[in-house]
Amino acid sequence: MTKIPSLQEIKDITRTERIGAHSHIRGLGLDDRLEPRDVSQGMVGQLKARKAAGIIVKMIKEGKITGRAILIAGQPGTGKTAIAMGMAQEFGPETPFTMISASEIFSLEMSKTEALTQAIRKSIGVRIKEETEIIEGEVVEIQIERPTQSMGAKQGKITMKTTDMETVYNIGQKMIDSLSKEKIGIGDVIKIEKATGKITKTGKSYTHRQDYDSIGPGETYIECPSGELQKTQELVHTVTLHEIDVINSRTQGFLALFAGDIGEIKAEIREQIDSKLSEWKDQGKAEIISGVLFVDETHMLDIECFSFLNRALENEIAPIVIMASNRGISKIRGTEYVSPHGMPLDLLDRLLIISTDPYSSDDIKKIISIRCEEEDVEIHPQALDLLTNIAVSTSLRYGIQLIIAADLVSKKRKADLVNVDDIRKVYELFVDVKRSTQFLQEFQDSFMFHEKNNQNNNHNDNEKDK
Ligand SMILES: Nc1ncnc2c1ncn2[C@@H]1O[C@H](COP(=O)(O)OP(=O)(O)OP(=O)(O)O)[C@@H](O)[C@H]1O
Ligand SMILES: [Mg+2]
Repeated sequence: MTKIPSLQEIKDITRTERIGAHSHIRGLGLDDRLEPRDVSQGMVGQLKARKAAGIIVKMIKEGKITGRAILIAGQPGTGKTAIAMGMAQEFGPETPFTMISASEIFSLEMSKTEALTQAIRKSIGVRIKEETEIIEGEVVEIQIERPTQSMGAKQGKITMKTTDMETVYNIGQKMIDSLSKEKIGIGDVIKIEKATGKITKTGKSYTHRQDYDSIGPGETYIECPSGELQKTQELVHTVTLHEIDVINSRTQGFLALFAGDIGEIKAEIREQIDSKLSEWKDQGKAEIISGVLFVDETHMLDIECFSFLNRALENEIAPIVIMASNRGISKIRGTEYVSPHGMPLDLLDRLLIISTDPYSSDDIKKIISIRCEEEDVEIHPQALDLLTNIAVSTSLRYGIQLIIAADLVSKKRKADLVNVDDIRKVYELFVDVKRSTQFLQEFQDSFMFHEKNNQNNNHNDNEKDK
């Protein structure tokens, strides 16, 4: 039988986030009309691409598109990954969003198509509706009978009311323990799930507002519920198809999700789950949510993966696939064919392409100053200007990386403001790609395995990727 994880099980799987390259990005920075603000939510410039990304987010949120693919294309460091991160923030927790780098799928543990299938199924959500019986009302009285022997279990009674009725329920040790754990007292409005015995406090009844001893900080006052004490409540949980797959394919169930030791999932299991789901869908018990799969560095996929994706996008339930690539016209991995963005033409033909442009020095300055704030680094305006000039003539990434190094240098001289000298110092200590290449060309003879005739240093050399 197909098992569904409970809400609690799923809630425990959280991701840790550190201050990373994109931690300053908190959204796409668009207004209600989807027009990009110049600097907002950590995003700077790149207006056209941000607006296009915003339109895609809106279409996905409204459930208007599915099984589509989008490519964000542009030079290195023009904010492709940043835009995808911004999109992820815009979706909110209801839309499943999976982010992978294309090279992740080449693993010895599972085939590439299995890895892709898992990524795709992580990006499809299932909203499952469940009805549970609950008792909801205001606590009138709690009576606990102490056992005569110290070892005996406690027993008691709880009286609960709504505006229309009042009932006394017998309670056992477990319920008594959870009542004291939740600090439930007279006048509290509580909800008890009948199946699990879980108690939640929704607030305090208005009628108890005058009780001095019961006023605690952050207490919310609500009306005493009306109607019957026992009700049915509809619970909705959202899980991903991948989570359902894992829970049904492993003996250790959902624990495999923590261990990460998932391995390949049999096709029969997926078929069973899919047919069960379509049954539930017909009965109105479940709803499929098309999420988003973001494949960064897409040119690292090979021709087989591309054709697999082509097919997967045409499935009845498919996520939106967003890809990013910084390649120009280059070889498709696994073939000798050359194609734009290193991707086959038949796939390109199915894509909407968003392109990113290089930044102006003004934008670069704004990005660097946002990064300084994010990394908690105080910088002198002249030092910021110098760092911007350095980033313009080298690369945005090099500029961003110097921030923390310059901060360390300034701390060493016990200053709390990064000045021009600190920037100069780190600029000399750490070379950028251009200077490193120049150095290599000047001193070729002293290095091993140099290829004198091939002075043309080509960063986009696809041979390296194989
Ligand atoms: N518009 C922007 N607003 C704020 N920060 C940005 C913006 N564009 C880029 N950045 C920041 O600049 C750095 C480089 O950008 P990013 O990693 O997104 O480039 P990329 O286009 O993905 O490059 P690559 O092709 O090398 O993967 C990141 O730290 C990113 O967060
Ligand atoms: Mg990137």
